[in-house]
Amino acid sequence: MLGYGVGLRRQHYSHVLETRPKVDWFEVISENFMVAGGRALEVLEGVRAYYPIAMHGVSMSIGSTDPLNREYLRQLRDLARHFEPAWISDHLCWTGVGGRNLHDLLPLPYTDEAIRHVVARIRNVQDVLERPLLIENVSSYMTFADSTMSEWDFISAIADEADCGILLDINNIYVSAFNHNFDANAYIDAVPGERVVQYHLAGHSDHGTYLLDTHDHPVRDEVWALYERAARRFGAVSALVEWDDNIPEFAELAQTADRARAIFESHGRTQKSAKPALSADHRA
Ligand SMILES: [Fe+2]
Repeated sequence: MLGYGVGLRRQHYSHVLETRPKVDWFEVISENFMVAGGRALEVLEGVRAYYPIAMHGVSMSIGSTDPLNREYLRQLRDLARHFEPAWISDHLCWTGVGGRNLHDLLPLPYTDEAIRHVVARIRNVQDVLERPLLIENVSSYMTFADSTMSEWDFISAIADEADCGILLDINNIYVSAFNHNFDANAYIDAVPGERVVQYHLAGHSDHGTYLLDTHDHPVRDEVWALYERAARRFGAVSALVEWDDNIPEFAELAQTADRARAIFESHGRTQKSAKPALSADHRA
């Protein structure tokens, strides 16, 4: 349990290094630091000296049918060896196929075949990375006619069979529930609590007939209500505020993280989960 953190963004590098604000931890976008040297790595050294971090990626494409990118995984492992993140996360999605990158986090068909495919790849990735992988539920705007189960059954089965953690993006659940007309509460109620290691909290845009996961607004009240439901069910889970566009002053991000803490302290389940969230094999 890292506590209540904020995504580290370029706009706040100087503020964080100079003032060491009171937040529990930072999540960093792995790809921004997979470079040979320069300012970004210096900043991360400075931040890591005072805060725990987790590494969050966008390029693993764990669901694709293309081979895993071994060079990417090696670079990610080397970055993790150096900065010792609590864990590494990426999205339960695919981002390209046939060697072409679509630069988007695309949903998978919820089928047994897709489960087998992704589970084998996650096991492989965790072996290479030498530390736990968390998979994050993405927001989506389409579904597959081939799906035979709910999204929550899909992610739960993958986490159990691959022995990995879940990064539950509360906002993404809300967005997808609206877009596909499913019950967001049922999602929270169904996910295996012992697998949930981290939350994302973010804002979205309301386009009337659909919601778009834009990370450019404050967290909406409906998403806070869903977070409270998760806090009641899952107990203490590391929470992280994501904000990627119209990024406000750091203080607003820190206040959002504090609100997550306050909701947990008022409503959260204080009992520990029956078993550890991740197997010892994959702990850092
Ligand atoms: Fe997220």
